[in-house]
Amino acid sequence: MAYNLLKGKKGIIFGALDEKSIAWKTALRCVEEGAQIVLTNAPIALRMGEINKLAEACDAPVIPADVTVTADIENLFEGTKEHFGGGVDFILHSIGMSLNVRKNIPYTNSNYDFMHKTLDISAMSLHRILQVAMKQDMINEWGSVVALTYIAAQRIFPGYDEMADTKAMLESIARNFGYQYGVKKHVRINTISQSPTRTTAGGGIKGFNGFIDFAEKMSPLGNADADQCANYTVTLFSDLTKMVTMQNLFHDGGFSNVGVTQPVIDQMEKQ
Ligand SMILES: NC(=O)c1ccc[n+]([C@@H]2O[C@H](COP(=O)([O-])OP(=O)(O)OC[C@H]3O[C@@H](n4cnc5c(N)ncnc54)[C@H](O)[C@@H]3O)[C@@H](O)[C@H]2O)c1
Repeated sequence: MAYNLLKGKKGIIFGALDEKSIAWKTALRCVEEGAQIVLTNAPIALRMGEINKLAEACDAPVIPADVTVTADIENLFEGTKEHFGGGVDFILHSIGMSLNVRKNIPYTNSNYDFMHKTLDISAMSLHRILQVAMKQDMINEWGSVVALTYIAAQRIFPGYDEMADTKAMLESIARNFGYQYGVKKHVRINTISQSPTRTTAGGGIKGFNGFIDFAEKMSPLGNADADQCANYTVTLFSDLTKMVTMQNLFHDGGFSNVGVTQPVIDQMEKQ
């Protein structure tokens, strides 16, 4: 059901790779709520061609940008300004890649070139996007930026390790830049800490099926799925949440506040 929550708003969606991507679902929901969008992803991801289906469904241009390259972001924002004839009201940062995790390198033996790249892609990219946005005055007054994160930034989830450090940095950047951009232009910046979700990035984590099943049992409402995440993100892009900024918002069916649940106790007692 659509509520016209984003009527007249314009935004940029980073990170739609395929139909499972959280960004894919969010792009569709934003358009359903009345927004116009520009889609972007790394040139290598665009070569898969999947995004063209989404672009058609959303009537949106696709502008390539590798988020580790400042010139790409500058070019993306210039193209977006030209397309819309002005700045944007919202940006979704839905980008993640951990090289050490991908390559199955144990945390205690991390390769630092890979770690640099992981931090660059998955955390510093938020800083880079916001810095270029500020310089180009890309985000309109009371605009909203959302980046996706995971509770491993606060608690230990073996296997997620390098990405956990990266998410902690991402959440910190959201707070620090949220302060600066809030003072300067009332732009709000938040992170959504999402339940484990079956996507390409999620599937790269060792033992991911175990993560999902455990989180499901540990969440009174069950795991939040990608469509529900898209709904929540829409509310943060809307004018209904204008005074929310610099927050890490859990979208996890209650998981983050649970010590143990009865289904988990029952399972332990069975063994
Ligand atoms: N899937 C989960 O369980 C889960 C849970 C919590 C948070 N998240 C976060 O949600 C976000 C979206 O991930 P997803 O699960 O939808 O997976 P996904 O694989 O569909 O999306 C990750 C995106 O990052 C993009 N990307 C990677 N390197 C890039 C670069 N250099 N430049 C530009 N884009 C680049 C990929 O092309 C891809 O589109 C990530 O930040 C992820 O950490 C996912």
